[in-house]
Amino acid sequence: MEAIQAIKGMNDVLPAQAPWWRHVERTARSLLEDFGYLELRIPVVEYTDLFARSIGESTDIVEKEMYTFPDRKDRLLTLRPEATASMVRAFIQHNLQGDPLARKFYFLGPMFRHERPQKGRYRQFHQIDAEVFGEDSPRVDAEIMYMLRLFLERLGLSGVVLRINSLGCPQCRRLYRRDLQEFLEARLDRLCPDCARRRHTNPLRSFDCKAERCGEVMREAPLLLDSVCPPCAEHFQRVQGHLKELETPCEVDPCMVRGLDYYVRTTFEIVTDRLGAQDAVGGGGRYDGLMRDLGGPDLPGIGFAIGMERLILLLQQESALPETEADGVYVAVLGEKAADRGFLLAQQLRKSGIRTRMDYESRSLKSQMRRADKWGARYVLILGENELASGEIQWRDMARKTQEMVKLDTVTEVLRARGRR
Ligand code: HAM
Repeated sequence: MEAIQAIKGMNDVLPAQAPWWRHVERTARSLLEDFGYLELRIPVVEYTDLFARSIGESTDIVEKEMYTFPDRKDRLLTLRPEATASMVRAFIQHNLQGDPLARKFYFLGPMFRHERPQKGRYRQFHQIDAEVFGEDSPRVDAEIMYMLRLFLERLGLSGVVLRINSLGCPQCRRLYRRDLQEFLEARLDRLCPDCARRRHTNPLRSFDCKAERCGEVMREAPLLLDSVCPPCAEHFQRVQGHLKELETPCEVDPCMVRGLDYYVRTTFEIVTDRLGAQDAVGGGGRYDGLMRDLGGPDLPGIGFAIGMERLILLLQQESALPETEADGVYVAVLGEKAADRGFLLAQQLRKSGIRTRMDYESRSLKSQMRRADKWGARYVLILGENELASGEIQWRDMARKTQEMVKLDTVTEVLRARGRR
């Protein structure tokens, strides 16, 4: 019978890879909590409308990448393609604005986009997502990017660049959009069909178009950053000032538009040239009108998401996983009676919170020692007929290469006293 495979673009994380994931997740949680973020867990599936209204009908994500299906009552549901919309929905739904301490939230989990899979681009991928609600100070924008810098530093990742831009507010954008549309209209014959079609609904997307001919056209296009209104310009200046004080280097990229429609003012991306066709490891920005547009209070918002697969691919290229010390106890047994006693001992140790491993089938002592070594056990406790009779076990310290006899009924206490799990 043919074996069933995983869905294309949806990956298993095998045990050899899992320590990288745990390392990244642990580092992220600890830093986010240092900065006052609270964990907010959101569902995998939401009503399609939530994403259509927030990310935007004419974005690639909503137009062609969402996993959408009707439920049994014919309501349209979607596997979340990102977290921001759900985080905002949850904030509104649970009236969290009433709690002045609840302003910053984070979430780690899988997202789903039906893109063409390739290195660094998957259909199920994972994000570290962080959002701040109700704050419009440019200090928040800078603090978020500073936190990102610290995060990458703690992981030991270098060689990535922080790019920032301002997309202005709806007022300054409205005027600019008209200029850009006129510009595109005059060069219609040089645009790809997608950009030609989108010039009415989403002209800014042309800055992101991968078609060479559009790239050439857009090099001469008017820039939004040149026409943002004075309050937006000042906000952006202050963000850059704070970034400088926080010694967080960045490059202003006036062509960076981001692929989601909710952004206003500050937007940013962490980019690399070491992931083939994919360059963004993370991205984010302000979305000051989103909460109101989703039926909530008129509170500003800002946040970011990092793609964990891309981050781990980069980390594996340049740093080694921090060494974990040899840990845990391996119970090696010789003979059926000893196996029965060893089995009980193993459960006892686990009950006391000691990491313990033992084989269910009897093997030679040599093969058990090999396994203990491969597993990275700190101690091996050897139990045979003689040990059962004397009530003592052989205690082998794998790191120090020493051996001694220890009373069987004191093993847990001795392990505790030695301060090793
Ligand atoms: P985004 O730029 O669409 O932003 O995604 C953020 C990151 O998720 C990307 O930089 C990338 O690392 C990763 N990513 C996206 N698509 C894929 C994929 N198909 N395969 C692997 N990794 C992927 C957002 O999602 C916004 N919600 C970020 C945000 C939060 N803005 C404000 N708050």
